[in-house]
Amino acid sequence: MASSHPPSKPSGRSTRRTINPDVIAIDGPGGAGKGTVASRLAAALDWHLLDSGALYRVVGLIALRRGIDFDDAASLAEATRKADIGFKEAAGALPAAVPIRVLVDGVDETDAVRSAEVEQPASRVAAVAAVREALFATQQAFRRPPGLVADGRDMGTVVFPDARLKIFLTASVDARARRRFEQLKDREASGSLRAPFGSDREGVAGAAAQAALAAIRASTEARDERDRTRPVSPLLPAPDAVTIDSTEMSIDDVMAAVMTLVQERGLGR
Ligand code: C5P
Repeated sequence: MASSHPPSKPSGRSTRRTINPDVIAIDGPGGAGKGTVASRLAAALDWHLLDSGALYRVVGLIALRRGIDFDDAASLAEATRKADIGFKEAAGALPAAVPIRVLVDGVDETDAVRSAEVEQPASRVAAVAAVREALFATQQAFRRPPGLVADGRDMGTVVFPDARLKIFLTASVDARARRRFEQLKDREASGSLRAPFGSDREGVAGAAAQAALAAIRASTEARDERDRTRPVSPLLPAPDAVTIDSTEMSIDDVMAAVMTLVQERGLGR
């Protein structure tokens, strides 16, 4: 990768943390709420945030735009190494979360990167070992004082196996598809990246909405299946991960459970 720019944070004072800053890994399938939880947790602790899915989404976007074949591992890896991916915290950000803008070659591509069209391409390129290798050091570079909250599929298993806390956040496919639907609808309406996590059960009654929801459910299942069964870094809980099933939980419930674990492990002090 040509360069990547994690947003800066003040350095921690502890020598141990300077050498090996603490990591909290939050892995799980799409739509389980990882992004929202990771962002809120990073804001609460004032730690760095790594949205590793955004890196795979950028590579998927580049492959789409350039027409690179998803089976052409060498070209995908080369495009990954040459990609100039940057992250910056959005101006006027709410203190309760860390909204990150994604830059590709200096251009703000956040909306394209987060679009539904990029989900399958991201999952396709993520199954290519050479792409994962090309992104490995980039992800590890986010580990800086005072600490890192890392969100993805293999944060606790492969990229940060020594994470102090590993959470596997999951939910039923129906719940995840519905949240994704609400999130996309919300984004479409307002341009916001806020996830209305379990917030309402309205607005999915019409035929068009039902069809859209069914398409999202099918896409979610296809992506999960590919992510779980790929030979490299499959989506699996680390043996030492704490699994949280958010199907029946609100975002506040999940945050409360996560903060209890954070405190139990003496993190973020
Ligand atoms: O989390 P998000 O939906 O943005 O991730 C997009 C895709 O990137 C996932 O479906 C998955 O295939 C891939 N990914 C991955 N490893 C990660 C993060 C994301 O393979 N650590």
